[in-house]
Amino acid sequence: MTAPTTLKAPESDYDPYTDAALLNPWPGYRELRDAGPAVWLSKYEMFALTRHASVGDALRDWSTFASSYGVMMNDPMNQVLRGNTLCSDGADHDALRRVVIKPLRPQAVTELTAEISREADELVDRVVEQGSFDAAADLAHHLPLTIVSELVGLPEEGRERLLVWASALFNCIGPLNERTISAFPVVREMVDYASTEALRGRLKPGSWGEALHDAADRGEVSREAVPVMMVDYMGPSLDTTIFAITSAVWLFAQHPDQWDLVRENPKLIPSAVNEVLRMEAPIQDFSRYTVKEFDMDGVTIPADSRAIVFYGAANRDEREYPDPDRFDVRRNPNNHMAFGTGPHVCLGLYLARLEMTSLISTLARRVRRFELGDTERALHNILRGFTKLEVTVS
Ligand code: HEM
Repeated sequence: MTAPTTLKAPESDYDPYTDAALLNPWPGYRELRDAGPAVWLSKYEMFALTRHASVGDALRDWSTFASSYGVMMNDPMNQVLRGNTLCSDGADHDALRRVVIKPLRPQAVTELTAEISREADELVDRVVEQGSFDAAADLAHHLPLTIVSELVGLPEEGRERLLVWASALFNCIGPLNERTISAFPVVREMVDYASTEALRGRLKPGSWGEALHDAADRGEVSREAVPVMMVDYMGPSLDTTIFAITSAVWLFAQHPDQWDLVRENPKLIPSAVNEVLRMEAPIQDFSRYTVKEFDMDGVTIPADSRAIVFYGAANRDEREYPDPDRFDVRRNPNNHMAFGTGPHVCLGLYLARLEMTSLISTLARRVRRFELGDTERALHNILRGFTKLEVTVS
């Protein structure tokens, strides 16, 4: 894409996808927020939206900022996922979302509370007993992986690839860099699995996956849409929640005063969950395609542009949150953008919150302090969190 001739936006040669920027995105985000409500990234020829107000404006206005041209920052990947819930608009999106959301509505998720709390208790008992453990592999993986693959009803074989697929899927959302390109074959494997293995008869009876096939039988969605809709469950439900849990442990290890507040008053846990998601949004950014011109607070975004919506940057906007880099479990920032907003707001958010709340509650009853050992941040185009987070607990 060449720079639009009507461009009035501030420009920046900042690259948010270098290793250094991915590991520490906050100074770069602040630079972009200060530069304007929409900033032309010359390296990628896309707009960056980093202010809370700009991200909200774009996400709420799907008739300008479309998802149906794909939400990835590269064309090959936008072709692969065309037609799933994430990458659709208007009536098509409503029809898909109505079906995919059924088992994820608040009431359906409430019914899972007892089971998830029990799993969380057993898991935390096990790891706390060890004294030292890896909060990524030993703690954060368990609930999303066991609960989600059970509920989706996937056959046993292939399940162990879920984490590899989910991570690749998110890397492919980024611009065409080395990380994106090397993830393409892995995503292809995931989409093939969804088409060849996640079939009626192979899925668990009564599972979410089966319900998609039932919806196709009733004509609520097309039969061809079912495999990409399976990806709606298999892709965004794992690493997101896993990374959110690792970030929670990391933040509490570094801020024992905030952990004490939660331990003393467990009613703060929902607010603490929001604050963790605000500080360390597990999905840092997706994108939109503009189907018409838009005036973003005085900056013209022309039609046929791609705009990257940085949820992670919006969450640290000093225009919205005083002292935004301070972790404060009493803040309750329930307008954070970690789940997005508008018509595509995360439909797994009740489940994600339940998994996080259950784990933090049970940790708060059993752990006084987390001491950090070896840690390794995921070097990932889109996701933020830890692949290794060794802790010793007392
Ligand atoms: C902490 C965990 C999670 C985070 C941070 C997260 C984040 C997000 C975000 C930012 C979006 C908006 C995408 C957009 O603006 O285009 C989204 C959408 C979505 N999420 Fe989540 N998610 C999480 C967990 C889950 C879970 C557990 C599931 C499913 C079981 C899920 C399923 C989906 C689906 C299907 C969409 C697409 C909705 C639509 O396009 O209408 N997510 N998520």
